[in-house]
Amino acid sequence: MQLLVVGGTGTLGRQVVRRALDQGHAVRCLVRSPRRAAFLKEWGAELVTGDLCKPDSLPPALVGIEAVIDAATARATDSLSVRKVDWDGKVNLIRAVKNAGIDRYIFFSILGAANYPTVPLMDIKACTEQFLMESGLNYTILQLCGFMQGLISQYAIPILDNQSVWMTGETTPTAYMDTQDIAKFAVQALAVPATEKRTFALVGNQAWTGEEIIQLCERLSGRTARIAKIPLGALRFMRQFTRFFQWTYNISDRLAFAEVLASGKALTAPMAETYECFGLDPKETTTLESYLQEYFGRILKKLKELDFEQSKSQGTNKKKKGFFF
Ligand SMILES: NC(=O)c1ccc[n+]([C@@H]2O[C@H](COP(=O)([O-])OP(=O)(O)OC[C@H]3O[C@@H](n4cnc5c(N)ncnc54)[C@H](OP(=O)(O)O)[C@@H]3O)[C@@H](O)[C@H]2O)c1
Repeated sequence: MQLLVVGGTGTLGRQVVRRALDQGHAVRCLVRSPRRAAFLKEWGAELVTGDLCKPDSLPPALVGIEAVIDAATARATDSLSVRKVDWDGKVNLIRAVKNAGIDRYIFFSILGAANYPTVPLMDIKACTEQFLMESGLNYTILQLCGFMQGLISQYAIPILDNQSVWMTGETTPTAYMDTQDIAKFAVQALAVPATEKRTFALVGNQAWTGEEIIQLCERLSGRTARIAKIPLGALRFMRQFTRFFQWTYNISDRLAFAEVLASGKALTAPMAETYECFGLDPKETTTLESYLQEYFGRILKKLKELDFEQSKSQGTNKKKKGFFF
């Protein structure tokens, strides 16, 4: 199939591109910066420059395309707001896809988005789901929760680096999923007609609280975490504060997520029917233990090698010193 992936440079988007190429699809990526996306070209994808917020750039990217996988979202560090990218931009894209006569559209939403109308990104995701369902396109909506990849910077690196792990008092159990597994589902949807015009929750096999993830990291790394608790009230205050400045809008919108974390409602869902419908095997889905075990194993081996190299070169220096003095 000739696919267009939007957001191909992102955490999930790059796994979608990788999986689609591995499955034999021809992949075109709509990218804002071909320089930043050079690795996708090296993998074998075609690059076309465009921007969701520049509607004129979309029709040329859609020529000859049979299906669109949309993995784009506003970057926290971007000057474009969540509303501009995730609402205005997506409306632009969905309309352009419809006008181009393309039928198939895969969209990533967030689990339980409709339950949080006061959280901007959740509200926008719920509205986009609705807009897509009413568009007449042949959609598949995959409702995700957290990515395992995000846990590395949140927990694993601070623990290895003896830095504080920041967390709120309340942590909602979340069924994190590896983006490689999510990509499998997204690409598989193209081959399974039973996934058409349907919405699926897509989550990992177990919901974990922040405390449980810290314990797991401590066990796998052999280090002790330094935990710093930030009260929910402080996050709410920071949210109000960051709303004053346009350049911190996206940070403010992300801080609004504190409300989701404080809800205490586990971010998880039953998955048996979804695996059956997609024809995928749950045993092949990465568990958080194996994901973090692989990460710590690799990093700790690297650190040992560096340590060995350092002490070897110090030893050589000592010998040299002994020789010269
Ligand atoms: N991260 C999570 O835990 C999580 C949880 C639930 C759902 N999701 C959903 O999963 C999807 C992928 O998320 P992610 O975390 O992988 O995203 P990400 O790493 O932040 O990447 C965002 C992607 O969107 C692209 N993009 C941003 N603004 C754009 C614009 N105006 N025009 C075209 N492309 C634009 C970025 O391109 P550049 O390289 O040019 O910036 C990048 O490729 C999103 O729909 C997100 O809402 C994520």
